Amino acid sequence: MTSTRLYLSPPDVGPEERALLLEAFDSNWIAPVGPHVDAFETELAEAVGVPYAVALSSGTAALHLALAVLGVGKGDDVVTSTLTFAATANAVTYVGARPVFVDVSADTWTLDADLLNEELRRRSKKGRQAAAVMAVDLYGQCADYSRIAATCAHYGVPLVEDAAEALGASYGRRSAGAFGRCAAFSFNGNKIITTGGGGMLVSQDRAIVDRVRHLATQARDPAPHYQHTSIGYNYRLSNLLAAVGRGQLRKLRSKIAARRRNNERYRTLLGDCAGIQFLEEADYGRSNCWLTCMTVTPGVFGASREDIRLALEKHDIESRPLWKPMHLQPVYQHCRILGGAVAEDLFDRGLCLPSGSAMTSAQVERIASIVIDTPCRSAATSGRALHA
Ligand SMILES: Cc1ncc(COP(=O)(O)O)c(C=O)c1O
Repeated sequence: MTSTRLYLSPPDVGPEERALLLEAFDSNWIAPVGPHVDAFETELAEAVGVPYAVALSSGTAALHLALAVLGVGKGDDVVTSTLTFAATANAVTYVGARPVFVDVSADTWTLDADLLNEELRRRSKKGRQAAAVMAVDLYGQCADYSRIAATCAHYGVPLVEDAAEALGASYGRRSAGAFGRCAAFSFNGNKIITTGGGGMLVSQDRAIVDRVRHLATQARDPAPHYQHTSIGYNYRLSNLLAAVGRGQLRKLRSKIAARRRNNERYRTLLGDCAGIQFLEEADYGRSNCWLTCMTVTPGVFGASREDIRLALEKHDIESRPLWKPMHLQPVYQHCRILGGAVAEDLFDRGLCLPSGSAMTSAQVERIASIVIDTPCRSAATSGRALHA
């Protein structure tokens, strides 16, 4: 990327990753196996504080295989947050199950633990329990795991953690990815660390990770010829990309620090603007501040989030509305939704600001000043009198 456009969350790679990539290339381990894949799995598991990990081609593949190994299939229901990226719900669809969407808490924007409890209790009474719950650690902040895990344990429903956006975040003393039966991370180009494209499934349970590794490698049985007793997938991560991932992982702490600094700067510069509110860090943990997100109340601020997005766009700066809730998506609007008003309001008023780990303070200041000026510009362009 050589343009001057300021992206929402661009890759931030350097000479270390380049050297590792070339070393992998020169070693001729150019395959979805090799020493960097093994080392990346060990190092990521260690960073998360879990014993087992398997490197995969994407976070979506990790979510898909998480559900597959838990035996979720045709006719099953999986309860998940409506405020997420489509990949969470799509993984449910891939295994033939149906997503059941639950609203988010207004404080953390993650799965509402009270509504989850209500849904599992209702299902328990009807004798039609969900096959799994997928909680999402949104924008780098963990869901409320002590409550969610207790509810899942009470009703005997396995919990899967979609930690795609939350590598390095924590809940209490534990890291994102350490909750539930297994968890998925993403190393897509916009994530806090990237391999260009890639993912990882982590678990405390060796049998789960062994089975995922098997399924991700075309489910080859241990025979000299090609023999298959299950339907497998071609989902492993290339050794070349794992080399890049190892270089990125070494810098995870500094990348989190940079994103947290961006977040603090935005708050300092915009926090006093009436009608602008930032996603607060929950008192139960520490966010990796993957993206800095805010909501805008147009009647108070004097401009909408869309006015701000367009004003930034005019300066070649990318910002994005928050995730469009899954229950509003054409492909999922037939699915059951519990609540939904919180996620709908967040979608109407929420905006993700540029948050890359290589951003300078001058860039954050420039963005903040465009945001602050937006009400005047919107009034001017719509012909409203400024001092009416
Ligand atoms: C919440 C969430 N889940 C899943 C994914 C899917 O990860 P990937 O793009 O690596 O398939 C992403 C991001 O892309 C995400 O943000």
